[in-house]
Amino acid sequence: MKYGHFDDIRREYVITDPRTPLPWINYLGSEEFFTLFSNTAGGYAFYKDARLRRLTRYRYNNAPLDQEGFRLYVRDGNSVWNPGWQPVQAELDSYSCRHGLGYSVISGSKDSVSVTQELLVPQGDNCLLMRVTVENAGKSEKRISLFPFIEFCLWDAVDDGANFQRNYSIGEVEVEGAAIYHKSEYRERRNHYAVFWSNRIPDGFDTSRDAFLGAYGSPARPEAVFGKGCTGSIAHGWQPVAAQQFDLKLEPCKTEKLIFGLGYIENPQEEKWLRPGIINKERASAMIARYSDDTSFENALSVLKTYWNGLLSSYQLESGDEKLNRMVNIWNQYQCMVTFNMSRSASYYESGTGRGMGFRDSCQDLLGFVHIIPDRARERILDIAATQFPDGSAYHQYQPLTKKGNLAVGSGFNDDPLWLIAGTDAYLRETGDWSILNEPTDFDNDPSLAEPLLEHLRRSFNYIKTHLGPHGLPLIGRADWNDCLNLNCFSESPGESFQTTGPSEGPVAESVFIAGMFVKYGRAWVDICRHLDLIEEAEAAEKEIAKVEQAVLSAGWDGKWFRRAFDAYGNVVGGQDCEEGQIFIEPQGMCVMAGIGQETGEAEIALQSVGNRLETKYGIMLLQPAYTRYRLELGEITSYPPGYKENAGIFCHNNPWIVCAETMLGHGNRAFDLYRKTAPAYIEDISEIHRTEPYVYSQMIAGADAPSFGEAKNSWLTGTAAWTFVSISQYILGIQPTLNGLQINPCIPRDLHSFRIVRRYRGATYRITVDNPEHVEQGVREITLGGKPIQGSVLPVLDSGAVADIHVLMG
Ligand code: BGC
Repeated sequence: MKYGHFDDIRREYVITDPRTPLPWINYLGSEEFFTLFSNTAGGYAFYKDARLRRLTRYRYNNAPLDQEGFRLYVRDGNSVWNPGWQPVQAELDSYSCRHGLGYSVISGSKDSVSVTQELLVPQGDNCLLMRVTVENAGKSEKRISLFPFIEFCLWDAVDDGANFQRNYSIGEVEVEGAAIYHKSEYRERRNHYAVFWSNRIPDGFDTSRDAFLGAYGSPARPEAVFGKGCTGSIAHGWQPVAAQQFDLKLEPCKTEKLIFGLGYIENPQEEKWLRPGIINKERASAMIARYSDDTSFENALSVLKTYWNGLLSSYQLESGDEKLNRMVNIWNQYQCMVTFNMSRSASYYESGTGRGMGFRDSCQDLLGFVHIIPDRARERILDIAATQFPDGSAYHQYQPLTKKGNLAVGSGFNDDPLWLIAGTDAYLRETGDWSILNEPTDFDNDPSLAEPLLEHLRRSFNYIKTHLGPHGLPLIGRADWNDCLNLNCFSESPGESFQTTGPSEGPVAESVFIAGMFVKYGRAWVDICRHLDLIEEAEAAEKEIAKVEQAVLSAGWDGKWFRRAFDAYGNVVGGQDCEEGQIFIEPQGMCVMAGIGQETGEAEIALQSVGNRLETKYGIMLLQPAYTRYRLELGEITSYPPGYKENAGIFCHNNPWIVCAETMLGHGNRAFDLYRKTAPAYIEDISEIHRTEPYVYSQMIAGADAPSFGEAKNSWLTGTAAWTFVSISQYILGIQPTLNGLQINPCIPRDLHSFRIVRRYRGATYRITVDNPEHVEQGVREITLGGKPIQGSVLPVLDSGAVADIHVLMG
């Protein structure tokens, strides 16, 4: 069952039933000001950091769901409704929500009145804009009142939801003309405030929630809207809000447009005040003036559309398969931008108050983002590297506003350092900008410890090299990629952190997964060394890599698949003799991607085992058999009921690893088959089972052991976005950036006869046509560039601005 459809021409998903199984959201803003916006106009806004600079309040876990947002009430006689259906939930005559690239449009109509709410965050500015269009489609005059309503958050979202004894006394606002200023804590240390404005003087306003909703009122039945209108309240403490009232008289067939905005303003310390107690509104007035009419909104929208057209033009596919085209050309790349911006901080499942930016998460997000805006990738790499410890280990997370490592979680996730090599390597391949390696970069955010980025990569490699366990495999520390496989923790008390309790790090527990990473990204490090003529270092590194590879093929091989780990007692995790958790997906994906066992046959056998033991109709499960009881020596992974999350859920993030691995062995049919199983556009028809947005990936789909098999959770912020883009764009369609040019190596389903890709790479445009007349899965017979055959399969780096036609003949 579907709740809408794709509109590929406009690059939108159109939701036609507001009662989606879960809120289906969009992200507005891609720079510093962000808004999450749902299909019923729920959501919240923040500046840079969803925890520390939250502009509007949101209550997760609320009932009814998704109550806070960017509300617009329409009062038409005795009837009150919202164009987005929520929160009043009055039946509408028509409804649609179009989520586009950086904007959303909700339209609802009732009794011949139609109202459209269009929202976007303009490029280069710190505000959310909302254009409201009201139309009287009836035959008689209508008197309609409109009430926009938002609830302010007192900036620090954690404190806002906890420290009520203080917070109920600090709320402050100012009202001037059509603008409501939220200035809580501005009197003391803050130098920022929020402003909500409209481009027309309202007929009424409220800034106290109790006055607008009623002390015992609710967003579904605001007293002001259902009663006598806004009261002109000024909030003193309690809950500051911005609500306005506009009384419109609409002749038949007449339309009215209003512009609203929610802005974030920072003033230099010495310019905070106009006069005692009155904030300096100069910057706010300038912002309001920038967006005071319909034309300015139109311009902002068209700038945004041009911006996105430009971004997506780095990789465009024409394959004859509309679902594939829309994933590759639109939604997968769009999600890569969102994961780059948010890491795992703010979604409808990540509260924005818990994790900041993840070290490994953000490094992986770069893999799918680096071709979109390489300059921002560069900046991010340097930010992440600056949180690394001098010994090469890394803070697991950092806060986006401060860019400082998060002490509470600390370091000890031993895969983290290698992801820095992965991210930097992807950047070098994409851009050829070797200067990044010379950038002085702090260790532990301490400028006195700064060293060139190259030294960070070296220490990343060396950290793993010098932290090997009894089998010569890397020590796992608190956890590797799988945050829930905690082999050194032994937590027995509820509420303790699974990762940081107990010794957390130990001399015995080892990870075959990190070993695979060490081989894969260690080789990337070797290539970098060679490129820089560090030949001795490269050769020494190769020896270390060879040793670890051997350890994987001996201690890490279980006969039919790669083992997962050794626990703190030296027992195998992920082996045939284990009672449960006999086979895990991660080492099969990573080791095969690293090329381990490719020549000696283990890789082939391992992937067959994945197909036999882990695959389901909805994707590949993380492990089997699921753990049925809590196991102290394995940690959080065994805390989940079977089939959920890391305990045998279909963890979407590592499905593309298997896709990549299949292509490494030349299995194009198989790779594409697996790709399709989790790709949102291909499973749109089962939205009632899948439940999350059919245009983006979710972190997890419940596995076969779960009662809700096939149900997805935690949409949007997942490494799945980047990895699937890598798997489809580089491994299946086979356009792979290398240090010296674009390698062409497709591995496709046999029945794909031909496809075209336009790829922007290092400033040049490559128009690539791939023909597959013999219907092979892999193999390139000939490549011509501008009509002339080239040697090998790597397209040279062309002059910036050049446009080249490339023809690839498979066979
Ligand atoms: C985390 C990732 C981790 C994955 C698997 C996600 O929630 O953000 O860093 O690799 O879970 O445990």
